[in-house]
Amino acid sequence: MPIQRSSQWYSGTDRNAYIHRAWMRRGLPGHAFDGRPHIAIANTASDLTPCNAHLNEVAESVKQGVYEAGGIPLNLPVVSLGETNVRPTAMLWRNMAAMATEEMLRANPVDGVVLLGGCDKTIPALLMAAASVDLPAVVLPGGPMLSGTFRGVPLGCGTDVWRLSEEVRAGTLSQEDFLSSESSMIRSRGHCNTMGTASTMALVAEALGTTLPGVAGTPAADSRLLQAAHEAGGLVISMVRDGRRPSEFLSRGSFLNAIVALAAIGGSTNAVIHLLAIAGRLGIPLIQDDFDSVGASVPLLVDLQPSGRFLMEDFHRAGGLLAVLREVVDLLDPTALTVTGRPLVEYLDDAQIWDPEVIRSRSDPLQPHAGIAVLYGSLAPTGAVIKPAAASEHLLRHRGRAVVFDSIEDFHARIDDPDLDVDADSVLVLRGCGPKGYPGMPEVANMPLPRKLLEQGVRDMVRICDGRMSGTAYGTVVLHVSPEAAAGGPLGLVRSGDYVILDVPARRLDIDATQEDLASRSPAEAATRAFANPSRGWESLYVSTVQQANTGADLNFLVGASGDQVARESH
Ligand code: FES
Repeated sequence: MPIQRSSQWYSGTDRNAYIHRAWMRRGLPGHAFDGRPHIAIANTASDLTPCNAHLNEVAESVKQGVYEAGGIPLNLPVVSLGETNVRPTAMLWRNMAAMATEEMLRANPVDGVVLLGGCDKTIPALLMAAASVDLPAVVLPGGPMLSGTFRGVPLGCGTDVWRLSEEVRAGTLSQEDFLSSESSMIRSRGHCNTMGTASTMALVAEALGTTLPGVAGTPAADSRLLQAAHEAGGLVISMVRDGRRPSEFLSRGSFLNAIVALAAIGGSTNAVIHLLAIAGRLGIPLIQDDFDSVGASVPLLVDLQPSGRFLMEDFHRAGGLLAVLREVVDLLDPTALTVTGRPLVEYLDDAQIWDPEVIRSRSDPLQPHAGIAVLYGSLAPTGAVIKPAAASEHLLRHRGRAVVFDSIEDFHARIDDPDLDVDADSVLVLRGCGPKGYPGMPEVANMPLPRKLLEQGVRDMVRICDGRMSGTAYGTVVLHVSPEAAAGGPLGLVRSGDYVILDVPARRLDIDATQEDLASRSPAEAATRAFANPSRGWESLYVSTVQQANTGADLNFLVGASGDQVARESH
């Protein structure tokens, strides 16, 4: 048995080795410390993260796999982020979760790690941590919930909350009927069952090569998830023995494969920020433009909500990610490896589409060009993104009068005012919602439409924001505008009544004003508020060090890796 990292704690006859072994024994036999791999199970299970609450049971199956392969499994509860609960936004805490997980993996006597995540930020945070500590690591996604129905119609988790609440505001659905759908929304354990951020990040993790191929998308309630957990426990032992670390098997090609997958599945725009942050931890050159240049030629093959009809249970039944990737295999980097040590493309030969309604063939795509468009212009000097597949075709080229809101509170206070000067051609602008501005960059960019326009039948408008959009949302929404208003971006200079020009085919986002005019204006209150507020704790650290969305919104001192070495003993 080769000497493991954990042996730095456990081997020897001195006092410190005695202490490390003695406190960990608690029923373990002496040979548990003979140099066999000790495996952390970085576990985001929490009752306050309902999408991940089942992960303790999953962890038990991982443990069985680790034991079977000759290792010692160790449950390591890590910071968990429940998207629906955590205020002001789970994104404020993604980097904290990543930092805390990285540090606890480095500080403890472990040789490898199984990463158990699910809800939106948990898999990105775990991957950022694993990349920076660079221990052999495999992701096990917790899986989506089963499909719910309401009055015989499938209910898409998240997406249908937005849709039904808009129907209430439009007066086409009663409040009573709306509330009666509530208990049908969450049918089982697991994360949101639409192609929201959680589903996207699980599938993107697989396309990156960080999961067992074929596992992502397995419903949380499916017994095959426990089987996969068992296998992941065995796999990480072989990764430790082979020295297969993230820095060894992840490459720029892995990330480009993830971008191809993101486009083909019609995945969440949040994946742009998360993939940029993960690549930043590995020192892999990846820029926002890669999502456009690589993803733009990829066809949309998956008919899932929010841009389509079906749900994740259907996706898994239809063949899952491997069936999608087989259709676009010519766009994939054949050299990009997976956690198994074998290239991702080797797993595609046997993949099949079992339901062509859910997963389309390359010859019959839902849209010939999917992906995420990256826009530049006088309103977004360092970029903004839009998901054309979720937008309205007729709005992709649009010129309209800005109606500006300085904060989400300002927006809520005025959007339904009957006297608000807004029409269907207006462009709603919401600022002060970027990483520094909120702080934390919340998912508010998909602003609800003014009630009076909803009542007229309007269902989409151009919306522009320096925040993010829920992966379960849809519409002609330009988001991640950078620099954000609170960092001095020109979004802070726009005034209601200015004309804004969106031209997605030309990849432009501009304000119809001269540079001299803009230079003469003072930044809005939203541009300065963030720096006045947090004076202590994480918020203070976050606001003073967070980077902009176009590079992944990581903290500037967390970019890169520190490896797994700890220089000093604790006693
Ligand atoms: Fe957890 Fe949607 S709220 S995945």
